[in-house]
Amino acid sequence: MTKTNPFKFGSVVSGKFFYNREDELLRIKQTLAGGNNVTLFAPRRYGKSSLIKKALKELNDEGFVTVYLDLMSVYSRETFIVNYAKVIANSEGTSLENTVKKIAKFISGIIPSVSFDSSGMPTFSLSWIEGINKEQTLIDIINLPDRLARSNKKWIIAFDEFQEVTKLNGDNFEKLLRSCIQNHQNVSYLFLGSKTHLLQDMFNNKNRAFYNAAAVMGIDKIDEIKSVDYLKTRFHSSKIKIDQTTAEHLLNVVANIPYYIQFIAYEIWQSLILDNRNKVTLNDIDEAIESILRLKSDYYWELTNNQTVYRKKVLYAISNSVVEIFSKQTALKYNLGAVSSTQRALEVFIENGIIEHAKGKYEFSDPIYRMFIIRQL
Ligand SMILES: Nc1ncnc2c1ncn2[C@@H]1O[C@H](COP(=O)(O)OP(=O)(O)OP(=O)(O)O)[C@@H](O)[C@H]1O
Ligand SMILES: [Mg+2]
Repeated sequence: MTKTNPFKFGSVVSGKFFYNREDELLRIKQTLAGGNNVTLFAPRRYGKSSLIKKALKELNDEGFVTVYLDLMSVYSRETFIVNYAKVIANSEGTSLENTVKKIAKFISGIIPSVSFDSSGMPTFSLSWIEGINKEQTLIDIINLPDRLARSNKKWIIAFDEFQEVTKLNGDNFEKLLRSCIQNHQNVSYLFLGSKTHLLQDMFNNKNRAFYNAAAVMGIDKIDEIKSVDYLKTRFHSSKIKIDQTTAEHLLNVVANIPYYIQFIAYEIWQSLILDNRNKVTLNDIDEAIESILRLKSDYYWELTNNQTVYRKKVLYAISNSVVEIFSKQTALKYNLGAVSSTQRALEVFIENGIIEHAKGKYEFSDPIYRMFIIRQL
């Protein structure tokens, strides 16, 4: 029988692939169920989307109507209207035909309809009425959930990668969205995203529309003890052993970042199964890293060669886990110039997603790239 890999990376995880986060889950669910909005931010690949999908599923089981919209795939006001209408139509819970009737009643400027795909499944689609005022359609769609919700059937709506709304004609869209949703009595909103600096500014800056619009929460990496347990249990499910020291080494190598824990464990499992072995060794971890470094080396070289000399120096300093990147000693040791130049370089890295700034520390988003930098620079 073919064995399936007990680890999973790259997409939302659930069921046996998901572990820990009980406290965060409870806090998020309680705040939303209590009628309050939540902003959740964390660096890339910490597990925001997986956590939120789990929260939504549980809230749905408890009787809420839940909607999830990923703004990454929204690039204009029109795509916002279309994608939002789709997820709302699919979430409402009654028949699609029924929902379409309600949508037609509440939203001007579009004609919603149900079509059937090749397997006979009903799917939602819409067409535009020519010459309409799309601003009104936008307002209508934003207000739709509150129209459909009732005091005994509340709605919870999650906008993933929420910082992307700034692409939709910036300020103006933000203001419109905020001014509509602040009147929604029966809907709670969840805003999440990975560009933490952008998201924090949206909610903490007095001049922005979403200032104070939600309870701001962050999530950390997963507790190391929980991750060790998870690694042991999951390897064990394929009759593979991993001891404490080896599991801790694995976590250490990937700086405890949830995505990379699963990624490395996945690779190791694969090679052990191929060799018909049943115990993970320290050497297996190093080999997995080597093989990923080989696979990604072209990409890493290109990424590095695109940097200025100054930025390379900053990368090198960060790769050595310097605590005080702006100190005189660091500047001397790594041959850095003015604090402002270092700051600027870091801003660029954060903008490009190469470096994360979390808990006062600058850290590589990709721990394997960090290793590449340590070796090559
Ligand atoms: N609670 C968890 N249990 C197990 N694995 C997890 C957990 N959270 C995250 N992961 C791992 O991290 C990967 C990324 O998770 P997810 O997509 O939820 O993170 P994200 O923060 O939304 O990422 P992105 O910033 O790319 O949107 C998952 O595919 C999985 O491998
Ligand atoms: Mg995500």
